[in-house]
Amino acid sequence: MTKQVILTGVRSNEEPTLANYLGAFVPMVEMQKKYAGEYQINMFVPDLHSFTTPVDHTALYQSTLTNVKYFIAAGLDIDNPDTFVYRQSFIPAHSELTWILDCFTYVGEMSRMTQFKEKSGEHSESVTMGLFNYPVLMAADILLYNAAYVPVGEDQFQHLEITRDIATRFNNKFGEIFTVPADTKTQTSFIKRDSGLRIRSLTDPTKKMSKSSTEEKSKILLSDDPGTAAKKVMSATTDSVGVVHFDFETQPGISSLLQILSLLTGRTQEEVNAEWVGSTSYGEFKKAVADAVRDFLTDFQRRFASISDEALIAKLEASEQAMAEIANATLLRAQTAVGLRRG
Ligand code: TRP
Repeated sequence: MTKQVILTGVRSNEEPTLANYLGAFVPMVEMQKKYAGEYQINMFVPDLHSFTTPVDHTALYQSTLTNVKYFIAAGLDIDNPDTFVYRQSFIPAHSELTWILDCFTYVGEMSRMTQFKEKSGEHSESVTMGLFNYPVLMAADILLYNAAYVPVGEDQFQHLEITRDIATRFNNKFGEIFTVPADTKTQTSFIKRDSGLRIRSLTDPTKKMSKSSTEEKSKILLSDDPGTAAKKVMSATTDSVGVVHFDFETQPGISSLLQILSLLTGRTQEEVNAEWVGSTSYGEFKKAVADAVRDFLTDFQRRFASISDEALIAKLEASEQAMAEIANATLLRAQTAVGLRRG
């Protein structure tokens, strides 16, 4: 297999929202459409990462499957021969390479990881070794498949940099064992993804829509009843200007709804704005957005329900088998380099 590899991990513990759909699922599907054929696309669920902070373990197995189903419902084509969809824990080489990399990673550099510092603050009673070691497992995820491109959000850039550092350090000591992934700048210009896409909270449009918010009306869950979701849109916070304008500074609520309308209906922002800017009826405008949200959810949930566990598991198992071969070959190179296997 000589195609360059684009690799991404899709993590979710809580129920995804409309913001996750528009900001993560859709870009992933678009990336597949654009690059499959020319590149190999590895999309995996980091199920070993998912309990570095506490989770409901009785729900973990199923939520891994559900997580992948969301992507398929969003349009990911699992029949595409260049796309591999797999579960991290089903390929033991991830754990094994993590151990080897651990022995070439310094406590000092890991202690500087921003996400670790933030999360260990939030979960201060249960800061586990798993949380601390999270970035090394992530490095193994990437290096096992010789991935060149790793499209991730900005919050993951530091982890990508540490992956490059570990790989470079290892290669300097042992020769060209790992492919060093592209730096974050190259990644960003390669993927050109709209990092500015932040869907806003419905109740406080100066903030982003967050799946962990306890305020139900602030977010639209992909599992929301479509009618209920439409009501949330109708009660979304707007302003007292009284005329529709697209300006996030002065009218964040209205602008956010214009943005949602454009993204859900597949029309450009300009087209949607041309239809609504200047309107003095917030009610009528909100109704149009509420209808679009209702139609989208109805359709999405229908697609979601039509995906069988059997078809999904068949895809996962086939990918896991194919990817284990690549992962094991990389692992063997690393094992041989450190003297665990005969050179
Ligand atoms: N840490 C990533 C996130 O939270 C998920 C992830 C785990 C990942 N391993 C990865 C992403 C490897 C890219 C490559 O989003």
